[in-house]
Amino acid sequence: MAPIITLVIVLGLLVDVVVHMRSRSQDSGRLSSTQLTCPSARSAGLESLASSSPGVAVQTGRSLFFDSRLSLDGSVSCASCHEPSRAFTDGRATSVGIFGRHGKRNSPTLYNVAYQPRFFWDGRALTLEQQVQIALTGPNEMGMTERALSMRFESFSPEVRRTLGKPTLASVSAAIAAFVRMLRSSGSRVDLYLYCGERNVLSQQERAGLRLFLGKANCVRCHTIEAADVSPLGGARAFFTDFRFHDIGAGDSFDPGLADYSHLSSDVGEFKTPTLRNVALTAPYMHDGSLRTLREVVEFYDRGGGKNGQVDQAIVPLYLTHSEEDELIAFLEALTSNSQGDELAKEHAKSRRRQQ
Ligand code: HEC
Ligand code: HEC
Repeated sequence: MAPIITLVIVLGLLVDVVVHMRSRSQDSGRLSSTQLTCPSARSAGLESLASSSPGVAVQTGRSLFFDSRLSLDGSVSCASCHEPSRAFTDGRATSVGIFGRHGKRNSPTLYNVAYQPRFFWDGRALTLEQQVQIALTGPNEMGMTERALSMRFESFSPEVRRTLGKPTLASVSAAIAAFVRMLRSSGSRVDLYLYCGERNVLSQQERAGLRLFLGKANCVRCHTIEAADVSPLGGARAFFTDFRFHDIGAGDSFDPGLADYSHLSSDVGEFKTPTLRNVALTAPYMHDGSLRTLREVVEFYDRGGGKNGQVDQAIVPLYLTHSEEDELIAFLEALTSNSQGDELAKEHAKSRRRQQ
C-alpha cells in the first residue's frame, strides 16, 4: 500500500508541473466533458478489466431493469431505486421496496460495479448475478418468487421471452447482470485533468481541492487514484475506491456492516468504500444515508469521522479552513460524468410516452 500512496502523492504534486509543461506546447481550450478528445480519459483505463457480455442479453436485461412486473406487487423495478438520472441511486436516505417497506441501507450507484470484487455495502454477494437475484427476491426490495415469475411471464414481450427461454430467477438475474455490467462512468473533468493533461479543465479551486484530496485530507488513501505505473494491468485507473472495508464511524444507528456476513467481531461497523464518481448526484451519503450533503460529509471527516465503534486509524481531525472545505467540495463535484445515465433516462422517458 505504502508505495502506491507515495506514488499517488508524488503524481499529485508533479501533475501541475507536467501538465503545465504540456499545455505550453498545445493550445488546450476549455473542454466540456461531452467533447472528449483524449481516449484514456474516456475509459480511464476502465475498459480492460470488465468482461464484455453478449448484446442480446444486455438488451433484454436493459428492458427488465425498468420493468416493475418483476416485483411481487408490481410497484417497483430496479430503476425505482437506481434511477439513471441520479447516477443509479434514488435520492432517499434508505430505499423503499414493495408494499412501501423500508430497507436499512442507502442505494449505491451501479456505475463500474463490473470491476468490484464483492457487492453490497457489506460485501455479502460474491458475483453480480448473485447480487441481482438477492435484489429480485429480497422481501424489502422486489420480493419475487419463481412461481410468481413463471405465472407473469406470458405478459412479457416476445423478444424477452425468446432470449430467456424458460424464465427462472437465475436467467432473469443473468440478463439484468449483463446489462448492469455495461454501466461505466469515466471521462469526468477530473479524468481529463489527470490523464489528458487538460490543465484548464479544472478551476483553481478544484485543483486546490485535488491537492487536499491527495495530501492534507488524505482521502486518496481509501478513495484510490492509481498512478499509471503502479497498476498491475498497466495504464492508470481511478476507481475512487480501494474496494476494501473500513469503519469510519458513520451512521445514526447500529449496523454490524461486514460482520453481518463474516460474523467476525473485528469486522463490526466496517463498510465497503464507495466510489466517489458522480458523488454530486448520489446524495444522501453513507450506508444509511445519514449525511445529507457533501458539506456535511466534509465536516464529518474534518471532525475526525464518527464516534461509532473502532474507527480506522486513518480517520483523524483534519483542521481544514472554511475555504479548504469549499475546495474539497468543488473537487468532488468535478467527478460527475453521468452520460450513460442521462442517455438512458431520456430514452426510457421517450419509450414510456410511446406506450401511453
Ligand atoms: C427497494 C429499492 C431497491 C430495488 C428495487 C433494487 N435495489 Fe439494488 N440496491 C438497493 C440498496 C439499498 C442496495 C444496498 C443494500 C446493501 O448494501 O445492503 C442495493 C445494492 C445493489 C447493488 C450493489 C452495488 C454495490 O456497490 O455493491 C447492485 C449491483 C444492485 N443493487 C442492483 C440492482 C438491480 C439490478 C435491481 C433490480 C433487479 C435492484 N438493484 C433493485 C436498493 C434497491
Ligand atoms: C479509511 C478510509 C477512508 C478515508 C481516509 C476516507 N474515506 Fe470516504 N468513505 C470510506 C468508507 C468506508 C465510506 C462508507 C462508510 C459508511 O457508509 O459507513 C466512505 C464514504 C464516503 C462518502 C459517501 C459516498 C456515498 O456514496 O455515500 C464520501 C462523499 C466520502 N467518503 C468522501 C471522502 C473524503 C472527501 C475523504 C477525505 C476527507 C474521505 N472520504 C476519506 C472510507 C474512507
